[in-house]
Amino acid sequence: MVVGVPVTEADHAWLRELWVKEWGGEIMVSRGRVYHLDEMQSLLAWDGETLVGAATYHIADGSCELMSINATVEGKGVGSLLLAAVEDAARAAGCGRVMLITSNDNLDALRFYQRKGYRLVAVHAGAIDEARRIKPSIPLVGNYGIPLHDELELAKPLGQGVVASR
Ligand SMILES: CC(C)(COP(=O)(O)OP(=O)(O)OC[C@H]1O[C@@H](n2cnc3c(N)ncnc32)[C@H](O)[C@@H]1OP(=O)(O)O)[C@@H](O)C(=O)NCCC(=O)NCCS
Repeated sequence: MVVGVPVTEADHAWLRELWVKEWGGEIMVSRGRVYHLDEMQSLLAWDGETLVGAATYHIADGSCELMSINATVEGKGVGSLLLAAVEDAARAAGCGRVMLITSNDNLDALRFYQRKGYRLVAVHAGAIDEARRIKPSIPLVGNYGIPLHDELELAKPLGQGVVASR
């Protein structure tokens, strides 16, 4: 598997389709703010010739926010590879940490991120109910039949990365 930036029109079209399918479009609402995924940096994962995942992130003022991450085949290492690549990009840009928001129903993502060293740093109670006023396509009920209400903020401080040792 390899990770790289989208280059061709087909890469960009695949990414837009993924956002529509997974997030209802390229607009994300978080803590009352509207974000456009197509204005941010993205990384794609390929398994041979096939696109199998994408991560979109935003670096500003020495901080990196992971806006979305998806693996089209789950449990095969795509998410881990993409997350490591985003952390490398953030480190290279001089960021001290990566932060992200996930929803209160996303138990799989909570497990995934915490096993990768992310810690819960805030709970934004009712933030998804607020976001739904701006983006009515946000469902009322999420994964595992859990009512969608709150945003969970996680963050991971970045170290120096892998240092070769003798
Ligand atoms: C979260 C996500 C990106 C993880 O990517 P992935 O390619 O499936 O993850 P990996 O194969 O690298 O596996 C990482 C770990 O997660 C576990 N895992 C992956 N999918 C899982 C699932 N559905 N349920 C339970 N565990 C899962 C793997 O077993 C592995 O466990 P380990 O830490 O013990 O090795 C992917 O499941 C996904 O696209 N989810 C839907 C979109 C989403 O919720 N994104 C996050 C939004 S904030």
